[in-house]
Amino acid sequence: MPELTLEGHGTFEVKKGTRLVRAIEDCGVDILHRCGGYAKCTTCRVVFLEGEPQNRTLAERDKLKEKGESGIRLSCQCLVENDMTVRVLNTLKSTGLDSPGDPPEAQITPEPEWVSLSE
Ligand code: FES
Repeated sequence: MPELTLEGHGTFEVKKGTRLVRAIEDCGVDILHRCGGYAKCTTCRVVFLEGEPQNRTLAERDKLKEKGESGIRLSCQCLVENDMTVRVLNTLKSTGLDSPGDPPEAQITPEPEWVSLSE
């Protein structure tokens, strides 16, 4: 099983193919996912320190382009396929919000269309 290291929280074994936002939450970190995992809000943003996936969904690419963001990824649009080290940027505690958002589904939503990270 891949190892997921969450900066400041530890290293955890995660079932291969798990949606990253759910894996982070399952590891006990209160990451935000305000749009419920639909690549709309960007609150599930993370920085990859190691093991960044080299593909991404069109939804993620378009949203980050729209927001003019670089250097971050949307954890609701990533799968844990290999060992990775991640910095979580927005948590319930750090933002003081009342809810992390609706629970993301087990699979990536919307239905993913994959493109290379360089596209
Ligand atoms: S963009 Fe909203 S939860 Fe990922």
